[in-house]
Amino acid sequence: MVLDFGSQYAQLIARRVREQHVYCEIVRYDLPLDRIRERKPRGLILSGGPASVHESGAPRCVPELFQLGIPVLGICYGMQLACQSLGGQVQQAEAREYGHASCQTLRPDQLLQGLPNGFDVWMSHGDQVTEAGTQFLPLARTDTCPIAAVRHATLPVYGLQFHPEVTHTPLGSTILRNFVLDICGCTGSWRLGDFVTATVAGLRERIGSKRVICGLSGGVDSAVTAALLHEAIGDQLSCILVNNGLLRKGEQESITAEFSRHFCTDLHVVEAESRFLEVLAGVEDPQEKRRRIGHMFIECFQQEAQTITDAAYLAQGTLYPDVIESGAAPDGPAATIKLHHNVGGLPEQLGFELIEPLRDLFKDEVRRLGEELGLPPDLIWRHPFPGPGLAVRCLGEVTHERLEILREADAIVVQEIKGAGLYRQTSQAFAVLLPVRSVGVMGDSRTYDNAVAVRCVNTDDFMTADWSRLPYDLLARISTRIINEVQGVNRVTYDISSKPPSTIEWE
Ligand code: XMP
Repeated sequence: MVLDFGSQYAQLIARRVREQHVYCEIVRYDLPLDRIRERKPRGLILSGGPASVHESGAPRCVPELFQLGIPVLGICYGMQLACQSLGGQVQQAEAREYGHASCQTLRPDQLLQGLPNGFDVWMSHGDQVTEAGTQFLPLARTDTCPIAAVRHATLPVYGLQFHPEVTHTPLGSTILRNFVLDICGCTGSWRLGDFVTATVAGLRERIGSKRVICGLSGGVDSAVTAALLHEAIGDQLSCILVNNGLLRKGEQESITAEFSRHFCTDLHVVEAESRFLEVLAGVEDPQEKRRRIGHMFIECFQQEAQTITDAAYLAQGTLYPDVIESGAAPDGPAATIKLHHNVGGLPEQLGFELIEPLRDLFKDEVRRLGEELGLPPDLIWRHPFPGPGLAVRCLGEVTHERLEILREADAIVVQEIKGAGLYRQTSQAFAVLLPVRSVGVMGDSRTYDNAVAVRCVNTDDFMTADWSRLPYDLLARISTRIINEVQGVNRVTYDISSKPPSTIEWE
């Protein structure tokens, strides 16, 4: 169990633990002790966090937490809390330490088993433990941090000043593995295959002979949800795909091929482009676009759902990050930053009971599950796509003609990035049609045409992102192809803004 003290890495810690085939959940830092006991965790990890233990309003845990007999690993702020609670001293370091550091081990211990005497770590802290007190044994140090790792003399309490969960600490997973397997005694037997078996059996039992409706969006989450349900209940599954006219090129075709031919589901495609374009006519404001698209989607979905008789359940591809970030998990952390976009969805008044078979999984686990269920790689690795689709990438008014230009340009961006073998290394890559025209010269004539921006970002969690350093040659090919092949475009720019302060989408 990861107790989240407001760390930007809490989800990463949980994922790293799951990579050791150990099931792991994130909970609030102040989850009451009896709730913790009830859930019988094998171990607790206290995350880092932005606060200082000296601040009056800083998030804290009760000292009894360390007396439960359950192994505890405090990371960064978590270590400072543990040491402070058990007699150590925490002080502000002379300078905030951020970045690589070299760590030397001071004494052998289970936690650092298998690591060389010197290893690289990633630090990010202001305070540090300066005095371990009589009860803690320092296990490692760096030049600027005398106590970089500790263990308690008698209790199963450990601390790391650095971050083992980030890739910049290359041996961090060995440390986490030592903690969860050797110290906590977990068996490392949690497998996605078992998850499929258990989930499929659970779904069968819950659904019985009733019918389930699953909305397909073109994205991996809804596709895996549908594939999992298909495995569980076969032809009791009906899928609805609303073609809002705002999908990427070829998206509808590939979903239709997969779910009508391969999985043979009862697939309802609602052709609704004209209805969506009608409500979007003349609308330029991004939030207003989202609102109208959301309403129209519900209307179309509802109408189609009514034609499916005897349906009792509605399936949604909600993932674990959506659950914890929306505050929907009973003991989950109240997240500091919310990814509002992907939560919510269809209203309760549709009258169905909700089924969310992926709500315990992270995105990379959903992709692996998709592979196990036999979905094609192209679908599994597709970059995330916003619900309002191309409407928020078609700046200004959304019309069929402008969408066609955008779709073609976007397809070239994706095709070229795939061709360069960079698609999986980038998190999102797409084209944006700008609401400006500029002057150009093609052949002997002057043009006055549209400008397209290419956006390509790398990110772990979509809350922060950096623009991808694509090779110039690749950018050149993308630009040349768009200008030559997409009629109506005479200029291409590359977006070099990071998030924050920009966002990934332009609207
Ligand atoms: P921003 O633009 O906020 O995007 O940096 C972060 C992630 O969210 C996606 N996004 C959306 N997804 N509905 C969605 O389902 C939306 O209205 C929406 N807006 C942004 C975006 O593509 C990125 O992955």
